[in-house]
Amino acid sequence: MAVREIRKLGDPVLRKKAQRVKKIDAGIVTLLEDMAETMEHYKGVGLAAPQVGHSLALVVVRPGEDFPVFEFINPEIVSCSGEETDLEGCLSCPGTYGQVTRCTEVRLKYQNRRGETKSLDASGFFARILQHELDHLAGIIFVDKATDLVSGEE
Ligand code: CO
Repeated sequence: MAVREIRKLGDPVLRKKAQRVKKIDAGIVTLLEDMAETMEHYKGVGLAAPQVGHSLALVVVRPGEDFPVFEFINPEIVSCSGEETDLEGCLSCPGTYGQVTRCTEVRLKYQNRRGETKSLDASGFFARILQHELDHLAGIIFVDKATDLVSGEE
């Protein structure tokens, strides 16, 4: 496992639409493990593969210390309901925070490492992270949607 370099706002890879993963091979598993290690190292709660320079539909999330690391391959939000505005930041935009309106409840469809299709219901902070990370897979960064943006040096 290795901590990878995080791509910052302005890097074109963050603006590409991520490709679906067709074959879950050893390279994909290593990338998922490195993404988890990178997220933990930088004390993030979620990370998408484009943030480490790979335009692939892979996301890792850890919504709190009481949770494990969740891995999502080819994730899609299949339902989204409720609405709440709250503060967000991003490891690709250090020191920048803003208010983003998101659904409060989402249902996610994804594949696990074995290629099995799974579904997960998330709410609150977990649902917010999922929406933020899936935006990364579409080339969208939270600053595109945020209001009351505040930038400071890290
Ligand atoms: Co982000």
